[in-house]
Amino acid sequence: MNQNELKKKVAWYVLKYIPFNTIIGIGTGSTVSYFIDALSTIKHLVKGVVSSSYSSTLKLKNLGFSIYDLNSVNNILVYVDGADEINHQLQMIKGGGAALTGEKIISSVAHKFICIVDKSKYVKHLGGFPLPVEVIPIACNYVMNRLKKFGGICKCRNNVITENGNIIIDIHNLKIYDPVKLENLINLIDGVVTVGLFANRKADLLLIGTENGVKKICC
Ligand code: 5RP
Repeated sequence: MNQNELKKKVAWYVLKYIPFNTIIGIGTGSTVSYFIDALSTIKHLVKGVVSSSYSSTLKLKNLGFSIYDLNSVNNILVYVDGADEINHQLQMIKGGGAALTGEKIISSVAHKFICIVDKSKYVKHLGGFPLPVEVIPIACNYVMNRLKKFGGICKCRNNVITENGNIIIDIHNLKIYDPVKLENLINLIDGVVTVGLFANRKADLLLIGTENGVKKICC
């Protein structure tokens, strides 16, 4: 099975964890796009959705889901999203699709974060995938100089402006020894909006698509 087939497999499998008649939090990316296809088959059992990005919202709207603004919702039981990397403690790197800020906010509101990935994303140590940091444009140079102190190589993502009007700096070849500490330290830098390290708000349940079925890992 190729990577897309594994993504599709896990995206359909997660349906069994979706509570009926509630508002579901929806992430971003190709795995989530398969999940939205799957969710549309039980749309009549879903009260509505809160979406983390324009791309997911557009697809959800086209499929006829009721879209809720996060500010009008007090309770999200389940948030479903993919990841660029996830470690054995269920801490993640996210933001490959530049939607990290919306993803972090909605996942913080949700009671349960279910992460769906193909097996290539499950790693022992985070950092193989470049760590995205969303930054206010005027702070680019300053933030880059501060980020360099953590090691790795900072590169501004070309031709990308986030939905919030910001830029993305990707930190390549970063050795992440303590994800919680690094997330907290990067968050303290003025000009940083969000770091794509989900270590404080990690996943509660990980579903991994493999050739031999879907593997479940709970925290
Ligand atoms: C977007 C994300 C995605 O979850 C991550 O990039 C994984 O995407 P895909 O499912 O396409 O591999 O964090 O900001």
